[in-house]
Amino acid sequence: MEKNELMTAIFVLGILSGECMNLIKTNPLELCPQEHLQYGTLCPSMMEGENEEPFVKFAEWVPHFSYNNISSYGMEVKNWWERSVRVVSVDEFGAKGDGETDDSKAFKKTWKEVCSSAYTVFLVPHGKKYLVKPVRFSGPCKSALTLQVSGTIIAPGDPKVWEGLNRRQWLRFKGINDLTVTGGGTFYGSGDQWWAQSCKINKTNPCQSAPTAVIFESSNNLRVKNIIVENSQQMHVKFRKCVGVHADHLKVLAPAHSPNTDGLHISASRHVVITNSIIGTGDDCISIVGDSFNIKIKNIICGPGHGISIGSLGKGNSEAQVSEVKVHGASLYNTKNGLRIKTWQGGSGSAKGIKFQKVHMENVKHPIIINQFYCDSTKPCPTKASAVKVSDITFKNIKGTSATKEVMRFACSDMVPCENIVLQDIDLTLSSGSTPTTFCENAIGYTIGSVSPQSCLQRCQQCKEEHAITHNFSYLPKDEL
Ligand SMILES: *[C@@H]1O[C@H](CO)[C@@H](O)[C@H](O)[C@H]1NC(C)=O
Ligand SMILES: *[C@@H]1O[C@H](CO)[C@@H](O)[C@H](O)[C@H]1NC(C)=O
Repeated sequence: MEKNELMTAIFVLGILSGECMNLIKTNPLELCPQEHLQYGTLCPSMMEGENEEPFVKFAEWVPHFSYNNISSYGMEVKNWWERSVRVVSVDEFGAKGDGETDDSKAFKKTWKEVCSSAYTVFLVPHGKKYLVKPVRFSGPCKSALTLQVSGTIIAPGDPKVWEGLNRRQWLRFKGINDLTVTGGGTFYGSGDQWWAQSCKINKTNPCQSAPTAVIFESSNNLRVKNIIVENSQQMHVKFRKCVGVHADHLKVLAPAHSPNTDGLHISASRHVVITNSIIGTGDDCISIVGDSFNIKIKNIICGPGHGISIGSLGKGNSEAQVSEVKVHGASLYNTKNGLRIKTWQGGSGSAKGIKFQKVHMENVKHPIIINQFYCDSTKPCPTKASAVKVSDITFKNIKGTSATKEVMRFACSDMVPCENIVLQDIDLTLSSGSTPTTFCENAIGYTIGSVSPQSCLQRCQQCKEEHAITHNFSYLPKDEL
């Protein structure tokens, strides 16, 4: 075999066997010692040499999901391995990193340089604080690239800075394929003043939008790994119109009282994997909204916050589709909700093929909740005939304690009942020790194994068990199913 073919073959094999790490061992172009094999991080041994250009190790550049065009993608990987990579620090473009000087210009210049050259790393150095105003980082870029945030990027605290600018964003990454964001550093939103002026905190104020700290939009094959996002103005991280995302080892932190500060928000995106992350904010730890498919969430710690949420869907009579969502392994502490699906009346579309599995709860106010009458509005929401259809929803192996009496709530509409709800191995008790209750309205499904408290679902007549649980996760490795 030619070398190219060999690399491709190894790559495909790695994907098929689900053992991507094999690839690393067989990589003949090893640049770093084995212990530094971490994608996107600078290889320390290479940094030590005085005149040596630092290298970046791309050994972990193997997605945990595959695309249609595996072989061409494999070639792309090979090319990376054969090259050295140039690291461009924001300091080279005049950034001060003192936390007070406006470093926005230096960031823009660095981006221009990095995005227009091949094989580059945008470096935000460790140990410094860079004050950056709202900036949009746009692609397409010349090749795959890495944003190595090792220091802190800090937002201006005063909302007035946004006057005349888009109030909905602080840092926006748009149209950038094959981007990796990593480095152990922090995106710090300085959100206090935004929270204070929110209409949820100060009722005399009008309800206005506030920035999302970090937005990834229309960017395919994105990795965000080993990053802290803290005290965002509103949502922390948003993935919008992205295909192929792996978010791993993220820490997302804000106080419980901060309004609408969702941790990770997924919108109109496909093939998203979120793993090994800690999220504690004032709103949903993870929220998934319309036109999102094949989302996998694994090993998440959530709290404080509003739990893991699908929706809200169907606001303002809109159509929304969410399917193939799997949450496998999560711990929720003192959250307002646990696992939730929420839809507005009057919407259309569907939320289906959703599985919550192996979730531990501690003192969660509403552990399991499907609500087709969601209304987060100052005015009451009138009853409507249409609704987003909710079906094929499995709650399996959900255990722990609830802070309120009603541990399960399935509030579904007359016209569009919830169907194929499966409860399997549920054990939810009250933190107080008293007897828990359940609520069901137009909720059809069945139970498997031991379910406590007893299910109130309407028995399912037509639905077959096989249909309820065969969710197609074709993009995910077999061992993860
Ligand atoms: C796969 O990749 C090859 C080489 O880059 C390209 O010519 C081809 O159009 C791709 N096929 C699909 C289905 O994307
Ligand atoms: C609420 O906002 C108004 C107008 O912005 C301000 O005058 C008032 O002091 C605020 N109230 C509190 C409790 O912060």
